[in-house]
Amino acid sequence: MTAEFSAALSAQAISADSAQRPQGIEAEALVLFVTEGQITSGTAAGIDQATGGLLTRLAAAGEISGKPCECVSLLAAPGLAAAQLVVVGLGPRDKIDTGTIYRAAATATRHLSSRPRNRVVLVADSLWTSRQVEQAVAGAAVGMVGQDLYRAEKKRTPFRSTIWTGAPADAVARGALIADGVNLARRLVNTAPDDLYPQTFADEAAAVAGRTGMEIEIWDEHQLARERCRAILAVGRGSARPPRLVKLTYRGADTSGNLAVALVGKGVTFDSGGLSLKPSDSMLTMKCDMAGAAAMIAAAATIAAMKLPINLVAVCGMAENMTGSAAYKLGDVITARSGTTIEIHNTDAEGRLVLADVLDVVRELKPRRIVDAATLTGACMVALGHDVAGLFTNNQPWCDEIAAAARSVGEPVWQLPMYPEYDEQIRSDVADIKNVGDGRWGGAITAAKFLERFVGGIPWTHIDIAGPSFAEKPRPWTDGGGSGSMVRALVELARGQS
Ligand code: BES
Ligand code: MN
Ligand code: ZN
Repeated sequence: MTAEFSAALSAQAISADSAQRPQGIEAEALVLFVTEGQITSGTAAGIDQATGGLLTRLAAAGEISGKPCECVSLLAAPGLAAAQLVVVGLGPRDKIDTGTIYRAAATATRHLSSRPRNRVVLVADSLWTSRQVEQAVAGAAVGMVGQDLYRAEKKRTPFRSTIWTGAPADAVARGALIADGVNLARRLVNTAPDDLYPQTFADEAAAVAGRTGMEIEIWDEHQLARERCRAILAVGRGSARPPRLVKLTYRGADTSGNLAVALVGKGVTFDSGGLSLKPSDSMLTMKCDMAGAAAMIAAAATIAAMKLPINLVAVCGMAENMTGSAAYKLGDVITARSGTTIEIHNTDAEGRLVLADVLDVVRELKPRRIVDAATLTGACMVALGHDVAGLFTNNQPWCDEIAAAARSVGEPVWQLPMYPEYDEQIRSDVADIKNVGDGRWGGAITAAKFLERFVGGIPWTHIDIAGPSFAEKPRPWTDGGGSGSMVRALVELARGQS
């Protein structure tokens, strides 16, 4: 791997400037957020005045509507020290939420980052809460980073320096740390699977631990065998790259060792489907199958960098699901770490096997609560589409907390049911359970039901991010590729725990 890929957090230069009025700051661009239907209200009024009513005229002419993610560049606007004014829409006032603000900020910086820029000034709206300022800062820092890790000619270049006005410096600093987490998760997902495999993924986690002062433990294949993690080992057996388990520990509360929460991530660095081979088209994006682990490592990194007063672990199972001559087979029976025997009906249902052993490791640590993130099922995308993550739980209050945290930062989630009747679908005639349901109906739920077997009754919520973790097409606010799904939600969740 090149040095570029092993740089842990992105470390963009982002600062707050409360001393100067935005119109007076020399920069290549000034970004202004406007509300649909009231273009010149609030913070925009000052810029409208400074430019001699430019915004009023453009709004009247219908050139600027303020619709969500509308992005209009005005060159040489009078009365501004900045060379260019970028007006980005938020939509109507009553529909603006934190997600809108995150995406609008990302849209503006994505637009500007198509060329190298030294200095860009963004104007925070005076009506935004400090949480909204954080997410705007995060969105701006995420929007200017593309998925072009391997392109000689970059499509996106992060600004040399980003300056926020009208925003409290501490909120700007927190937003930058959140963005570092999101961009870290995105970079890990976007790294080619031949560069990011279990060992190099674990190396990345070690680099992150080193930079953020977390403890790290890495289990190699020998340690996994000693720990009876036969399900993780089975999934990895068809690959020349042996599996790993990574445990990050962050103690921000006290040294008593009480764990408020355990974060668990699926880290399948490439999912070919194994002997139940995927068709080529479905395999193309399967470097994204470690997005759950990337989200957990990145969220832990941001939580540690923010020094939140909480104790937590992040435990991730890393394996490559391949078809080598030692690959696990259909009809195999695997004894998971917990002792549960699993009959293999489909080697493409590998994520739940990896998580079975990781959840058992975590159960032994007796955390107060568990949350896992996994690109677990195509069925969840059938149910909820590309943008919404599925939630599954054995404990409603815990699920409600996670849903509230996710929605408060603009990450949409939707809960699916866990009726006991679904358990019948994973019964096996030869082992305790089998690794798929009967047929494909309700596949996201039967997968979650499988996981539930391994949490030992600890309050647990599973987040299926198969849809939102990876964008195959660009959107106004992103070039596509890894999205950093759930990093912001989990950081917000951790803040609520302390
Ligand atoms: N990694 C996939 C799920 C996935 C699909 C993630 C599309 C992102 C986008 C998972 O390992 C898988 O293959 N699941 C199977 C389960 C089935 C065999 C029961 C699926 O969803 O088809
Ligand atoms: Mn699979
Ligand atoms: Zn998978």
